[in-house]
This record gives sequence, structure tokens and C-alpha cells, in this order.
Amino acid sequence: MQVRFRLTPLRLLGGVVLLFALTIIGALLVAWSGVYSIAASRGHPGWLNDFLELGMRRSVQTNSALSPPDHLDLDDPSLVQLGAAHFRAGCAPCHAAPGEPINPIFEGMLPTPPRLEDYVDTWEDEDLHWIVYHGLQYAGMPAWSGADREDEVWAVVAFLRRLPELDREGFRALAGRTDLAPSSPETFVKEGRNAAGLTACARCHDDAERDIASSLAPRLSGQSAAYLKLTLEDYRANRRQSGIMEPVAAELTDDQIDQLADYFAGLSPRPPLKGDASDASEMGRDIAENGIPDRGVGACMSCHGGMAEETYPVLAGQSQTYLQNQLRLFRDGVRAETPQAELMSAVAARLEDSEIDAVSAYFAATTPVVRNTPTADTGGEL
Ligand code: HEC
Ligand code: HEC
Ligand code: HEC
Repeated sequence: MQVRFRLTPLRLLGGVVLLFALTIIGALLVAWSGVYSIAASRGHPGWLNDFLELGMRRSVQTNSALSPPDHLDLDDPSLVQLGAAHFRAGCAPCHAAPGEPINPIFEGMLPTPPRLEDYVDTWEDEDLHWIVYHGLQYAGMPAWSGADREDEVWAVVAFLRRLPELDREGFRALAGRTDLAPSSPETFVKEGRNAAGLTACARCHDDAERDIASSLAPRLSGQSAAYLKLTLEDYRANRRQSGIMEPVAAELTDDQIDQLADYFAGLSPRPPLKGDASDASEMGRDIAENGIPDRGVGACMSCHGGMAEETYPVLAGQSQTYLQNQLRLFRDGVRAETPQAELMSAVAARLEDSEIDAVSAYFAATTPVVRNTPTADTGGEL
């Protein structure tokens, strides 16, 4: 007797479904039995490594689509500097800084965070942006901590582009600014290496001696202690979004916030970074002094002249770039999570791009009024 097997479309479909079910059952059995060791110390077999690497690369390339906005130039030194300062505390602990070895703790991760200078050239700008903003699942590569702050990540991308050409000294010069004097053996034993850490504010901001390191960071001198304290608390509580400032603020205690706010509020405000108010456009001055009554925009100076609430920031003397960035964030609803920020968000929502540019240029060229008696009192222990 002859058994004839005829392959019909229905039988083919049945076979495929059966095979699929068996594969899933097989995979479940392997997972349940625990025979596959997930020990990081064991490493991946070569074929699995290649498979995961291919999957990771293709996923990043397929999902990344955001190119740098028109107003950004990735060669801008301000972007590179801020990116470097963030890299030092936010990335180098895992990926290592140029010329320095990777810490054995992070070397023991699987996958091991790669030395990025060897890889950045294999990625497009948009891919690097995607990786840093979204992070990588199951790899230990964290996502950016400031929600909706894609804009900030371009500073890191600008720095990554420069990374391959930097040696140890070149990197330190770019990211450091605060190489502290060597500590005595006694303080070293108690406090550890006296290195500029995450919370060394002067890596980016102004202090008694120096101005801001990057025009993307705000000046803190001349701001009221009440505003500085409130906004640091906002970063710490995730009520103001920034992947650069939130990790810094998360390290601060209430007492440190109070003392830092007093310290910066006590510094004398600095003159404008460039130009003076007479160079600014009539449009900028008019909005600052009179607002735009037709659209219900109040005069900026009525809230920002230094005479309104103590917790309202002073704008005079901030860089034009910082002011433009913040106004766009308010307008897009990214900085709108507190009653104060909502108030400002409602104002910014009524401004056109050209008005944001003009009024920012005006405040950037204006000399701040001295609102606090400068004491630069650094007393007390931080
Ligand atoms: C907690 C450790 C950790 C931190 C912090 C971290 N990363 Fe990573 N990163 C990783 C690991 C692990 C991988 C490897 C992922 C892989 O190979 O699948 C990775 C991968 C990457 C890659 C892809 C490299 C490649 O070509 O394979 C880039 C780019 C990157 N990280 C940039 C950064 C930047 C920039 C920062 C700081 C903003 C940062 N990472 C912070 C752990 C970290
Ligand atoms: C790696 C660079 C960097 C470091 C280090 C840093 N900051 Fe900042 N800081 C920034 C940037 C960039 C912003 C703007 C963030 C935003 O868009 O909200 C900012 C914003 C701020 C603001 C808000 C000012 C305003 O006008 O609204 C305060 C206050 C502040 N930082 C205080 C500090 C203090 C205090 C430290 C040290 C404990 C510190 N920062 C360390 C980069 C830094
Ligand atoms: C009704 C009061 C009010 C008016 C009018 C107002 N602002 Fe504000 N603005 C605020 C408050 C309050 C904040 C602080 C928001 C916060 O705490 O997050 C702020 C914050 C800002 C900031 C961020 C400053 C920093 O250091 O981060 C900018 C920039 C700004 N305003 C620009 C303007 C401009 C330009 C105008 C005029 C078109 C204007 N504001 C009109 C109340 C006002």
C-alpha cells in the first residue's frame, strides 16, 4: 500500500504553526530549566555577540530620525564644552575618559561599556543622538534623565564628534576647569581623591573668579537666593527637566542647596557678555518694557526687573542662547510643571520666533541691577 502525502496550502500553514509553537515551547523550557548561565563573567558566545550587535545597530539606525536643528552648529565651542563637562561626570564613569583606564567595576558589565573614541565614527549624528537620548535596553546604557530635553543631547553629540582627537590633557582642559589643588594625605585618607566631581558647579557656571564656561549654561551671579533655591529644588524633584542639572541636583542636600543659593546670590552680577542695550533692536526693548498688549503679553520687566517677587529670575546679563532656549522650552510646554513655570509658559506661548530672538538679544545686552548686597560669603561647611 502506498501512502501518498500531498502538500496543500492548509497543511503547509499547519506545519509552520506547529514549528513555531515547538520553538516557543523549546525556548520556554530552556528559560525555565535555567541551563543557560547568564553570568556576566562568562561572556557571550561569539555568534550571540554578533547577533546582538547586528540587532542593536540596525535598531538604532532604523529608529533614529532627528537631525540637528537648523539653528545649531555642532562645531560651536559652547556646545562642545558643555557636552564635555557633562561627559566627565555623566558618561566617563562607565565609558572612561580619554587616556584613562575604564574602572574594573564597569569593565565587568556585559556588554562592557565600550571606549567611545573607537566607535563614534561608525555612527551618524542622528544615531548618536538617539542612543544618548533613549539609552539601550538590556545593555545598561541609561536613557537621558531630562524628559523631552532632546535639545540638550546635541551638546553631547557635538562633544562625541571631537572625542577621537582628544588626549588626556586635551579632554581635561575642555571638561575640567576645576582641577583642585592636591589634598594633604590626611584629607585624602578621609575624603578620597580631590577630583572635580559631578557637583563642581564651576565646571559650567560662573563663580567669584570666572564667568560661565559655555553660553548654554546660565550665569548664577546676580540671581536671588530665593529663585536659585526654588529652581534647584525643582530639578531635584523632577519638576524642571534637564538631563544635565537633574543628576547634579539629585546629589545635593537641603542644607547644601541653601548654602549654594546664598553663595551665588552673593556674587556681584557681571556685565553683558557682548554689546550693550543700545545695540539691541527696538522690537526687543519694546517687548521688554511694554509687552505686546494686543496679544495679552505683559511687559517682561514687570516681572523680571528685580522688583517683583523674590522667586522671579533676573534676565539681564544671561546669554542670548540661554534665554532663547528657555523661552522655546516654556513655549513648547517642556518647562511648565510648577505654578511659576506655568505663568511663564502662558506668556511664551504667545511669542513668535522673531520676538523670542529680539527680546533675548535685548536682555543679553542689558546690565543686571545689583539686587543683593554682594557678600560672596562662603562661610560654613558644605
Ligand atoms: C551605567 C553605565 C553607562 C553610562 C553612565 C553611559 N553608558 Fe553608554 N553604554 C553603556 C553600555 C553598557 C553600552 C554598550 C551597549 C551595547 O554594546 O549593546 C553603551 C553604549 C553606548 C554607545 C554605543 C557604542 C557602540 O558603538 O557600541 C554610545 C554612543 C554611548 N553608550 C554613549 C554614552 C554617553 C554619551 C553617555 C553619557 C551621556 C553614556 N553612554 C553613559 C553603558 C553606559
Ligand atoms: C555639566 C555642566 C553643569 C554643572 C556641573 C552644573 N550646572 Fe547648573 N546648569 C547647567 C545647565 C546647562 C543649565 C540649564 C539647564 C536647563 O536648561 O534647565 C543649568 C541650570 C542651573 C540653574 C538654573 C538657573 C536659572 O537661571 O534658571 C541653577 C540654579 C544651577 N544650574 C545651579 C547649579 C549648581 C548649584 C551646580 C553645582 C552644585 C551646578 N548648577 C552644576 C549646567 C551645569
Ligand atoms: C507675570 C509675570 C511674568 C511675565 C510678564 C514674564 N515672565 Fe518670564 N518668568 C516668570 C516667572 C515666574 C519665571 C520663573 C519660572 C520658573 O520658576 O520656572 C520666568 C522665567 C523666565 C525665563 C527663564 C529664566 C531663567 O533664568 O531660567 C525667561 C527667559 C523669561 N522668563 C523670559 C520672559 C520674557 C522674554 C518675558 C516678556 C515677553 C517674560 N518672561 C514675561 C514670570 C513672568
